[in-house]
Amino acid sequence: MSQLAADVSADLPKLSETLTEVTGAHFDEFIAAARRLITSAQSLQELQQQRVSLTGKKSALTGWSKQLGRLDADDKKAFGAKLHEVRSSIQEALTAQQQALEAAALQAKLDSERIDITLPPRGNEKGRLHPITMTTQRMQQFFVQAGFNVATGPEVEHDYYNFEALNIPSHHPARAMHDTFYFDAHYLLRTHTSPVQIRTMEAGKPPIRIICPGRVYRCDSDQTHSPMFHQLEGLMVTKSSTFAELKGLINEFLEAFFAKSLTVRFRPSFFPFTEPSAEVDILADNGKWLEVMGCGMVHPQVLKNCGIDPEEFTGFAFGMGIERFAMLYYGIDDLRLFFQNDVRFLKQFG
Ligand code: DAH
Repeated sequence: MSQLAADVSADLPKLSETLTEVTGAHFDEFIAAARRLITSAQSLQELQQQRVSLTGKKSALTGWSKQLGRLDADDKKAFGAKLHEVRSSIQEALTAQQQALEAAALQAKLDSERIDITLPPRGNEKGRLHPITMTTQRMQQFFVQAGFNVATGPEVEHDYYNFEALNIPSHHPARAMHDTFYFDAHYLLRTHTSPVQIRTMEAGKPPIRIICPGRVYRCDSDQTHSPMFHQLEGLMVTKSSTFAELKGLINEFLEAFFAKSLTVRFRPSFFPFTEPSAEVDILADNGKWLEVMGCGMVHPQVLKNCGIDPEEFTGFAFGMGIERFAMLYYGIDDLRLFFQNDVRFLKQFG
Protein backbone atom coordinates (compact mmCIF):
# COMPACT_ATOMS: atom_id res chain seq x y z
CA MET A 1 0.00 0.00 0.00
CA SER A 2 1.35 3.43 -0.93
CA GLN A 3 1.95 6.08 1.71
CA LEU A 4 -1.05 8.00 0.45
CA ALA A 5 -3.30 4.95 0.71
CA ALA A 6 -2.06 4.33 4.23
CA ASP A 7 -2.80 7.93 5.23
CA VAL A 8 -6.24 7.86 3.70
CA SER A 9 -7.29 4.55 5.20
CA ALA A 10 -6.25 5.86 8.58
CA ASP A 11 -9.18 8.29 8.26
CA LEU A 12 -11.73 5.66 7.43
CA PRO A 13 -12.14 3.79 10.73
CA LYS A 14 -13.30 7.01 12.37
CA LEU A 15 -16.45 6.74 10.28
CA SER A 16 -17.31 3.22 11.23
CA GLU A 17 -19.66 4.39 13.93
CA THR A 18 -23.27 3.45 14.31
CA LEU A 19 -25.28 4.67 11.41
CA THR A 20 -27.47 7.17 13.25
CA GLU A 21 -24.42 9.05 14.52
CA VAL A 22 -23.13 9.58 10.98
CA THR A 23 -24.19 12.91 9.53
CA GLY A 24 -24.46 14.04 5.92
CA ALA A 25 -21.13 15.85 6.25
CA HIS A 26 -19.53 12.66 7.51
CA PHE A 27 -20.83 10.77 4.50
CA ASP A 28 -19.36 13.38 2.13
CA GLU A 29 -16.03 13.19 3.96
CA PHE A 30 -16.20 9.44 3.74
CA ILE A 31 -16.81 9.52 -0.02
CA ALA A 32 -13.95 11.99 -0.56
CA ALA A 33 -11.55 9.89 1.52
CA ALA A 34 -12.63 6.71 -0.28
CA ARG A 35 -12.08 8.35 -3.67
CA ARG A 36 -8.61 9.47 -2.66
CA LEU A 37 -7.82 5.98 -1.53
CA ILE A 38 -9.12 4.48 -4.78
CA THR A 39 -7.26 6.84 -7.08
CA SER A 40 -4.06 6.15 -5.15
CA ALA A 41 -4.15 2.47 -6.15
CA GLN A 42 -1.14 1.67 -8.31
CA SER A 43 -2.11 -1.83 -9.37
CA LEU A 44 -5.23 -3.91 -9.97
CA GLN A 45 -4.24 -6.03 -6.99
CA GLU A 46 -4.07 -3.01 -4.71
CA LEU A 47 -7.39 -1.80 -6.07
CA GLN A 48 -8.97 -5.18 -5.29
CA GLN A 49 -7.82 -4.86 -1.65
CA GLN A 50 -9.43 -1.47 -1.48
CA ARG A 51 -12.62 -2.73 -3.04
CA VAL A 52 -12.83 -5.31 -0.24
CA SER A 53 -12.00 -2.85 2.52
CA LEU A 54 -14.47 -0.25 1.22
CA THR A 55 -17.40 -2.39 0.10
CA GLY A 56 -16.73 -5.91 1.46
CA LYS A 57 -18.43 -7.79 4.33
CA LYS A 58 -16.23 -6.18 6.99
CA SER A 59 -16.41 -2.70 5.56
CA ALA A 60 -18.00 0.28 7.36
CA LEU A 61 -20.45 0.59 4.50
CA THR A 62 -21.68 -3.00 4.90
CA GLY A 63 -21.81 -2.48 8.67
CA TRP A 64 -24.05 0.54 8.19
CA SER A 65 -26.27 -1.30 5.75
CA LYS A 66 -26.83 -4.04 8.31
CA GLN A 67 -28.03 -1.46 10.81
CA LEU A 68 -30.78 -0.23 8.43
CA GLY A 69 -33.13 -2.99 9.57
CA ARG A 70 -33.16 -1.62 13.08
CA LEU A 71 -34.29 1.87 12.07
CA ASP A 72 -37.83 3.18 11.86
CA ALA A 73 -39.46 3.58 8.47
CA ASP A 74 -38.52 7.24 7.85
CA ASP A 75 -34.87 6.89 8.89
CA LYS A 76 -34.63 3.65 6.97
CA LYS A 77 -35.75 5.47 3.85
CA ALA A 78 -33.46 8.47 4.35
CA PHE A 79 -30.35 6.52 5.36
CA GLY A 80 -31.09 3.82 2.80
CA ALA A 81 -31.02 6.44 0.03
CA LYS A 82 -27.85 8.00 1.43
CA LEU A 83 -26.04 4.66 1.69
CA HIS A 84 -27.08 3.81 -1.83
CA GLU A 85 -25.55 7.08 -3.00
CA VAL A 86 -22.34 6.39 -1.07
CA ARG A 87 -22.06 2.89 -2.48
CA SER A 88 -22.71 3.93 -6.11
CA SER A 89 -20.26 6.76 -5.83
CA ILE A 90 -17.58 4.37 -4.50
CA GLN A 91 -18.44 1.78 -7.18
CA GLU A 92 -18.12 4.41 -9.81
CA ALA A 93 -14.68 5.47 -8.57
CA LEU A 94 -13.58 1.82 -8.39
CA THR A 95 -14.72 1.15 -11.97
CA ALA A 96 -13.02 4.28 -13.26
CA GLN A 97 -9.76 3.44 -11.53
CA GLN A 98 -9.94 -0.15 -12.73
CA GLN A 99 -10.36 1.02 -16.33
CA ALA A 100 -7.47 3.46 -15.96
CA LEU A 101 -5.20 0.77 -14.50
CA GLU A 102 -6.21 -1.75 -17.18
CA ALA A 103 -5.55 0.75 -19.95
CA ALA A 104 -2.18 1.62 -18.45
CA ALA A 105 -1.30 -2.07 -18.12
CA LEU A 106 -2.29 -2.73 -21.74
CA GLN A 107 -0.25 0.23 -22.94
CA ALA A 108 2.76 -0.96 -20.92
CA LYS A 109 2.38 -4.44 -22.41
CA LEU A 110 2.13 -3.03 -25.93
CA ASP A 111 5.15 -0.84 -25.34
CA SER A 112 7.23 -3.70 -23.99
CA GLU A 113 6.23 -6.05 -26.81
CA ARG A 114 6.61 -3.49 -29.52
CA ILE A 115 8.42 -4.80 -32.61
CA ASP A 116 10.31 -2.32 -34.74
CA ILE A 117 9.01 -3.14 -38.20
CA THR A 118 10.71 -0.20 -39.84
CA LEU A 119 13.80 -1.04 -41.90
CA PRO A 120 16.80 1.21 -41.92
CA PRO A 121 16.54 3.26 -45.11
CA ARG A 122 18.47 2.07 -48.14
CA GLY A 123 19.85 5.57 -48.66
CA ASN A 124 20.05 7.45 -51.89
CA GLU A 125 23.39 6.99 -53.50
CA LYS A 126 24.30 9.97 -55.59
CA GLY A 127 24.91 9.22 -59.24
CA ARG A 128 28.21 10.08 -60.84
CA LEU A 129 29.37 11.07 -64.25
CA HIS A 130 31.22 8.56 -66.38
CA PRO A 131 34.97 9.25 -66.52
CA ILE A 132 34.68 9.82 -70.28
CA THR A 133 31.95 12.41 -69.69
CA MET A 134 34.07 14.15 -67.06
CA THR A 135 37.11 14.13 -69.34
CA THR A 136 35.05 15.54 -72.22
CA GLN A 137 33.77 18.29 -69.95
CA ARG A 138 37.28 19.19 -68.79
CA MET A 139 38.53 19.37 -72.38
CA GLN A 140 35.49 21.30 -73.52
CA GLN A 141 35.81 23.76 -70.65
CA PHE A 142 39.24 24.89 -71.81
CA PHE A 143 38.20 25.48 -75.40
CA VAL A 144 34.94 27.19 -74.50
CA GLN A 145 36.92 29.61 -72.36
CA ALA A 146 39.23 30.17 -75.32
CA GLY A 147 36.23 31.28 -77.41
CA PHE A 148 35.27 28.05 -79.20
CA ASN A 149 31.66 26.99 -79.75
CA VAL A 150 30.53 23.40 -79.38
CA ALA A 151 29.31 21.88 -82.65
CA THR A 152 27.73 18.52 -83.37
CA GLY A 153 27.16 16.31 -86.38
CA PRO A 154 25.50 13.01 -87.24
CA GLU A 155 27.06 9.68 -86.25
CA VAL A 156 25.52 8.05 -89.31
CA GLU A 157 27.42 9.94 -91.95
CA HIS A 158 27.72 10.14 -95.72
CA ASP A 159 31.08 9.14 -97.19
CA TYR A 160 31.29 12.58 -98.80
CA TYR A 161 31.62 14.22 -95.36
CA ASN A 162 33.58 11.46 -93.69
CA PHE A 163 36.10 11.08 -96.54
CA GLU A 164 35.61 12.83 -99.87
CA ALA A 165 35.36 16.43 -98.71
CA LEU A 166 38.28 15.82 -96.35
CA ASN A 167 40.50 15.01 -99.31
CA ILE A 168 40.27 11.25 -98.83
CA PRO A 169 39.08 9.92 -102.21
CA SER A 170 37.86 6.33 -102.49
CA HIS A 171 41.17 4.92 -103.70
CA HIS A 172 43.08 6.67 -100.89
CA PRO A 173 44.95 4.29 -98.52
CA ALA A 174 43.65 6.29 -95.53
CA ARG A 175 40.19 4.88 -96.22
CA ALA A 176 41.42 1.34 -95.69
CA MET A 177 43.11 2.45 -92.45
CA HIS A 178 39.84 3.62 -90.99
CA ASP A 179 38.19 0.15 -90.67
CA THR A 180 34.84 1.66 -91.51
CA PHE A 181 31.42 0.23 -90.63
CA TYR A 182 29.35 0.70 -93.79
CA PHE A 183 25.57 0.60 -94.07
CA ASP A 184 25.61 0.67 -97.86
CA ALA A 185 27.73 2.14 -100.65
CA HIS A 186 27.55 5.67 -99.18
CA TYR A 187 26.34 5.65 -95.60
CA LEU A 188 28.61 4.69 -92.76
CA LEU A 189 29.26 5.24 -89.06
CA ARG A 190 31.61 8.21 -88.90
CA THR A 191 35.18 7.07 -88.29
CA HIS A 192 36.24 10.43 -86.86
CA THR A 193 34.76 13.80 -85.87
CA SER A 194 36.46 15.56 -88.80
CA PRO A 195 33.27 15.52 -90.97
CA VAL A 196 31.87 18.10 -88.53
CA GLN A 197 34.58 20.47 -89.86
CA ILE A 198 33.03 20.18 -93.31
CA ARG A 199 29.46 20.56 -92.09
CA THR A 200 30.42 23.63 -90.04
CA MET A 201 32.30 25.33 -92.87
CA GLU A 202 29.48 24.57 -95.32
CA ALA A 203 26.90 26.05 -92.96
CA GLY A 204 28.62 29.26 -91.88
CA LYS A 205 31.16 31.88 -92.82
CA PRO A 206 34.52 32.48 -91.13
CA PRO A 207 35.58 33.40 -88.55
CA ILE A 208 34.90 29.89 -87.29
CA ARG A 209 35.97 28.57 -83.92
CA ILE A 210 34.42 25.23 -83.01
CA ILE A 211 35.13 22.07 -81.16
CA CYS A 212 33.15 18.90 -81.63
CA PRO A 213 33.27 16.16 -79.03
CA GLY A 214 31.45 12.98 -80.01
CA ARG A 215 31.27 9.25 -80.67
CA VAL A 216 33.14 7.68 -83.55
CA TYR A 217 33.26 4.08 -84.76
CA ARG A 218 35.88 1.76 -86.18
CA CYS A 219 35.83 -1.97 -86.72
CA ASP A 220 38.62 -2.65 -84.25
CA SER A 221 38.77 -4.04 -80.71
CA ASP A 222 41.64 -4.76 -78.31
CA GLN A 223 43.21 -3.32 -75.17
CA THR A 224 43.68 0.08 -76.79
CA HIS A 225 40.94 0.03 -79.43
CA SER A 226 37.18 -0.04 -79.05
CA PRO A 227 34.65 -0.21 -81.91
CA MET A 228 33.06 2.90 -80.42
CA PHE A 229 35.16 5.62 -78.88
CA HIS A 230 35.19 9.39 -78.56
CA GLN A 231 37.09 12.15 -80.27
CA LEU A 232 37.27 15.87 -79.82
CA GLU A 233 37.75 17.82 -83.02
CA GLY A 234 38.77 21.45 -83.23
CA LEU A 235 38.61 23.89 -86.10
CA MET A 236 39.52 27.53 -86.39
CA VAL A 237 39.25 29.46 -89.64
CA THR A 238 40.04 33.20 -89.84
CA LYS A 239 41.86 35.59 -92.12
CA SER A 240 45.05 35.09 -90.19
CA SER A 241 45.23 31.71 -88.48
CA THR A 242 48.76 30.38 -88.27
CA PHE A 243 50.58 27.25 -87.24
CA ALA A 244 52.22 29.24 -84.42
CA GLU A 245 48.78 30.05 -83.06
CA LEU A 246 47.82 26.38 -83.29
CA LYS A 247 50.96 25.39 -81.38
CA GLY A 248 50.33 27.99 -78.69
CA LEU A 249 46.71 26.89 -78.25
CA ILE A 250 47.58 23.18 -78.07
CA ASN A 251 50.43 23.80 -75.61
CA GLU A 252 48.14 25.77 -73.37
CA PHE A 253 45.40 23.19 -73.63
CA LEU A 254 47.69 20.30 -72.71
CA GLU A 255 49.13 22.08 -69.70
CA ALA A 256 45.68 23.16 -68.53
CA PHE A 257 44.25 19.66 -68.97
CA PHE A 258 47.06 17.83 -67.20
CA ALA A 259 47.47 20.71 -64.76
CA LYS A 260 51.25 20.75 -64.99
CA SER A 261 53.99 22.03 -67.23
CA LEU A 262 54.82 19.61 -70.03
CA THR A 263 57.39 19.03 -72.72
CA VAL A 264 55.39 19.02 -75.96
CA ARG A 265 56.66 18.05 -79.40
CA PHE A 266 55.06 18.72 -82.79
CA ARG A 267 56.24 15.93 -85.06
CA PRO A 268 55.72 16.26 -88.84
CA SER A 269 53.06 13.85 -90.03
CA PHE A 270 50.48 13.41 -92.74
CA PHE A 271 46.72 13.81 -92.88
CA PRO A 272 44.97 14.29 -96.22
CA PHE A 273 42.91 17.20 -94.89
CA THR A 274 45.73 19.27 -93.39
CA GLU A 275 48.92 20.67 -94.87
CA PRO A 276 51.29 20.85 -93.15
CA SER A 277 50.26 18.19 -90.63
CA ALA A 278 51.73 17.27 -87.29
CA GLU A 279 51.29 14.78 -84.54
CA VAL A 280 51.57 16.10 -81.01
CA ASP A 281 53.57 14.14 -78.44
CA ILE A 282 54.08 14.80 -74.75
CA LEU A 283 57.09 13.62 -72.80
CA ALA A 284 56.04 11.16 -70.09
CA ASP A 285 57.76 10.74 -66.71
CA ASN A 286 59.41 7.53 -67.95
CA GLY A 287 61.13 9.45 -70.77
CA LYS A 288 58.86 8.10 -73.49
CA TRP A 289 56.96 10.28 -75.96
CA LEU A 290 53.21 9.80 -75.91
CA GLU A 291 51.23 10.68 -79.00
CA VAL A 292 48.11 12.61 -78.00
CA MET A 293 46.62 14.20 -81.13
CA GLY A 294 46.84 15.07 -84.80
CA CYS A 295 46.68 18.60 -86.14
CA GLY A 296 47.63 20.87 -88.99
CA MET A 297 46.67 23.75 -91.24
CA VAL A 298 43.40 23.05 -93.06
CA HIS A 299 44.24 21.93 -96.60
CA PRO A 300 43.32 24.63 -99.20
CA GLN A 301 41.34 22.02 -101.13
CA VAL A 302 39.22 21.30 -98.04
CA LEU A 303 38.45 25.02 -97.66
CA LYS A 304 37.51 25.14 -101.35
CA ASN A 305 35.26 22.08 -100.96
CA CYS A 306 33.29 24.11 -98.42
CA GLY A 307 33.14 27.30 -100.49
CA ILE A 308 35.80 29.14 -98.51
CA ASP A 309 38.48 31.01 -100.50
CA PRO A 310 41.90 29.72 -99.38
CA GLU A 311 43.47 32.97 -100.66
CA GLU A 312 41.42 34.92 -98.14
CA PHE A 313 41.18 32.52 -95.20
CA THR A 314 43.44 30.12 -93.40
CA GLY A 315 42.52 27.62 -90.75
CA PHE A 316 43.89 25.02 -88.44
CA ALA A 317 42.37 21.87 -87.12
CA PHE A 318 43.11 19.26 -84.50
CA GLY A 319 41.63 15.98 -83.40
CA MET A 320 42.23 13.79 -80.37
CA GLY A 321 40.93 10.66 -78.74
CA ILE A 322 39.07 11.38 -75.51
CA GLU A 323 39.66 7.89 -74.07
CA ARG A 324 43.37 8.42 -74.54
CA PHE A 325 43.25 11.61 -72.48
CA ALA A 326 41.13 9.92 -69.82
CA MET A 327 43.58 6.99 -69.63
CA LEU A 328 46.57 9.30 -69.26
CA TYR A 329 44.81 11.57 -66.78
CA TYR A 330 43.45 8.82 -64.52
CA GLY A 331 46.24 6.28 -65.11
CA ILE A 332 44.04 3.61 -66.70
CA ASP A 333 45.75 1.04 -68.89
CA ASP A 334 42.83 -0.84 -70.42
CA LEU A 335 40.44 1.07 -72.65
CA ARG A 336 37.76 -1.59 -72.33
CA LEU A 337 37.15 -0.66 -68.69
CA PHE A 338 35.35 2.46 -69.91
CA PHE A 339 32.71 0.39 -71.67
CA GLN A 340 32.18 -2.57 -69.35
CA ASN A 341 30.11 -0.49 -66.91
CA ASP A 342 31.46 -2.32 -63.89
CA VAL A 343 30.32 -0.21 -60.91
CA ARG A 344 33.49 -1.10 -59.01
CA PHE A 345 35.40 0.75 -61.70
CA LEU A 346 32.92 3.58 -62.23
CA LYS A 347 32.57 4.29 -58.49
CA GLN A 348 36.18 5.41 -58.35
CA PHE A 349 35.45 8.57 -60.29
CA GLY A 350 33.62 11.76 -59.45
N1 DAH B 1 40.64 12.73 -87.89
C1 DAH B 1 41.93 12.25 -87.47
C2 DAH B 1 41.83 10.82 -86.97
O1 DAH B 1 40.78 10.38 -86.63
C3 DAH B 1 42.49 13.10 -86.38
C4 DAH B 1 42.86 14.47 -86.85
C5 DAH B 1 44.09 14.73 -87.29
C6 DAH B 1 41.92 15.47 -86.84
C7 DAH B 1 44.47 15.97 -87.74
C8 DAH B 1 42.27 16.74 -87.28
C9 DAH B 1 43.56 16.98 -87.74
O2 DAH B 1 41.42 17.74 -87.28
O3 DAH B 1 43.89 18.21 -88.17
O4 DAH B 1 42.83 10.15 -86.88
